[in-house]
Amino acid sequence: MNTFTQYQVEPVVRTHLDFKLDQIPRFWFGGDPFKTRMFDALSLTFPDGERYFIQCVRLYREQITDPDLQQKVADFIKQEAQHGIAHDKMNQILIDQGMPVQRFTQHVNQRLGHALKRYPKQYNIAITAACEHLTALMADAFFSEKATMQDAHPFIRALFAWHSIEEMEHRDVAYDVMTKVAHTSNTLRYSALALVTILMFGFTMQRANGLLKTDGFSVLERMKMAAKGLPWFFGRQGILARLRPEYLDWYTADFHPSQHPIIHQYQTFVDELAKTNDPILAGEAFWQAAL
Ligand SMILES: [Fe+2]
Ligand SMILES: [Fe+2]
Repeated sequence: MNTFTQYQVEPVVRTHLDFKLDQIPRFWFGGDPFKTRMFDALSLTFPDGERYFIQCVRLYREQITDPDLQQKVADFIKQEAQHGIAHDKMNQILIDQGMPVQRFTQHVNQRLGHALKRYPKQYNIAITAACEHLTALMADAFFSEKATMQDAHPFIRALFAWHSIEEMEHRDVAYDVMTKVAHTSNTLRYSALALVTILMFGFTMQRANGLLKTDGFSVLERMKMAAKGLPWFFGRQGILARLRPEYLDWYTADFHPSQHPIIHQYQTFVDELAKTNDPILAGEAFWQAAL
């Protein structure tokens, strides 16, 4: 029985958001090719990854009897579909820059299609829930401190802000399907997070390297960039290392995503979007309100 305080916000499906991505510069993260391409590499797998999450949750849809969870699953599917649409637009921009996006997405699709076809449903929902744990934590890592996204272009920062908000809103949906409907074992849950952590960050670095190579940077230049840039993400003081305790909470028997507080400026995004109906202004207010 869980005895911790539960923090929860309801998923809200937001559609037709325009982030004017066609106006962002090539190296949109403060002119820094390495940081830009790391975020681009992460973003380019989102549409296929999110379509896979939708398929995995759908595998259990018929078995969900709790009306509250049914509604949350419906909203989860709609939110992830919208994320896919937005990041597909981002992918088109990368394609227009000459980036080998299709090569990467083909590889992602092959792996995910194989998993759906060959592995049990429980494996697939555990992978989805583990990815959702990572995306909710990344959302926090990107926006809990103002300095982290300081140099990012405001338009794409707003895209990541909106996506982060919704990842936090639906962070427990796949988890609840996994534990309450699929009744996945803790061992499978623990293994799934270990696996997706290695794959997600390993492939992101590999793809970022491929993008930088296409940009024309030599092996030596890319090695220098990685040596300078990787600690910003993964170093002891890196943006991701700060969330180590929350990451490790997953590996406890009674973990639930709602035991982690929601980012403190969550309501700022919601209020600003309601006031202006402009996701760029909402993203800006959300980022400005960070610590
Ligand atoms: Fe998403
Ligand atoms: Fe998600």
